[in-house]
Amino acid sequence: MTQVMGPWRGVGTDEAASMSLLSATSIDEDRARPKAALHVLGPPRRGCSDELTPIAPAPERPRDFEIPTALVDAAGRRVRYVRLSVTDRCDLACTYCMPPHGERAHARREELLDFDEIVRLARVLHRMGVERLRLTGGEPLVRRGVPELVARLHTVAPSLALTMTTNGTRLGPLAASLAQSGLSSVNVSLDSLDPQRFAAITRGGSLDLVLAGIEAARAAGLEVKLNTVLQGEASLGELPALIAWAWARGLTPRFIELMPMGEASSLPSSDFIPIARARERLSGLVEDGRDPSSARGPARYLVEPRTDRRVGLIAAASEPFCEGCNRIRLTARGELRGCLGHPHGVALRPVLRHSGSDDRDLAWALVAGLSGARRGHEMPSIGARLAAFGDGAHARVGMSLVGG
Ligand code: 5AD
Ligand code: SF4
Repeated sequence: MTQVMGPWRGVGTDEAASMSLLSATSIDEDRARPKAALHVLGPPRRGCSDELTPIAPAPERPRDFEIPTALVDAAGRRVRYVRLSVTDRCDLACTYCMPPHGERAHARREELLDFDEIVRLARVLHRMGVERLRLTGGEPLVRRGVPELVARLHTVAPSLALTMTTNGTRLGPLAASLAQSGLSSVNVSLDSLDPQRFAAITRGGSLDLVLAGIEAARAAGLEVKLNTVLQGEASLGELPALIAWAWARGLTPRFIELMPMGEASSLPSSDFIPIARARERLSGLVEDGRDPSSARGPARYLVEPRTDRRVGLIAAASEPFCEGCNRIRLTARGELRGCLGHPHGVALRPVLRHSGSDDRDLAWALVAGLSGARRGHEMPSIGARLAAFGDGAHARVGMSLVGG
């Protein structure tokens, strides 16, 4: 079965040709880059901005700068967790995320960081105290060669925890090689267990394919968490079934509030279900336990007292969790973005591609980029933050462009 719905045509072709032949450590992607790339912007589409807000190049590095052992942002938070997008494309087109035929301004092939660049960046980040790297997209597995990328990352930084957020459509054939390459866990999006509703949300996606992907991930020994975005009353109705399905397989379900960005910013307000409504639904079934992993990320975990099984709730829009946030995002184009709800960041690609640059230049760009990038945490919620910049244009940028 092949997914043909989404805007993924043309993805990974040249890289695929080179990657399939090679060992994990000898990639020459520069030669594989096309000489000229076509990049045609169509007319603006509903809910979809042209580009991410342009960002500044890194300032010049002070001569005496040495690579620090900790990466600290403007608010004094140590960054230990990085989400790195490997592509802004996807083979699905969820109604709250992707316009029907893809974003208007997907990265051109040569704008994407190549695997050498990603590995170099990860090595420097790890040296600066980053402990966890999550590969995201778009859909990371539409870029070919990702298992080889995971293997290379694992080789250069064996103690860096490697995880992935995926829509699951390609996990079936890839889960085993991802696990063997050093991936430890996957978060799989599963918005519905009803095939029709799943197809409607993803604009044609096959539920069976994703369920098979989840099965393959479990069989390969990957830790699996399920992400369900709450959209409309129907998703509240599906809550018990999704939890039962996940628990029956020893998986942890997580429910995420819809954030008003990209396509979602033009959805009717009735689609936005506050996480409090999910909590209400779950009262009696699970308790607000003091689960230690609640402290590690935006998810707050509720626990079923008898069995210790957990449900995660992510109040992405209504309850700000910025204070405890220790993550940064790197877009597929190699831009450091400190926050989803904040348009500023720094361009790392020019530093990576500057022939004379060394690890100190890269580390400096990261430090400089973070020092001003996270003023957003003072805002009351991500919704308020998204609306607060410029004319609200940042709110029209989809998750796949920033990195999911
Ligand atoms: N609000 C909340 N979650 C979103 N995702 C994509 N767009 C949005 C949005 N507007 C989710 C996907 C996936 C994760 C990467 O981000 O469903 O689980
Ligand atoms: Fe693709 Fe994920 Fe966006 Fe859906 S939410 S279109 S699966 S990137």
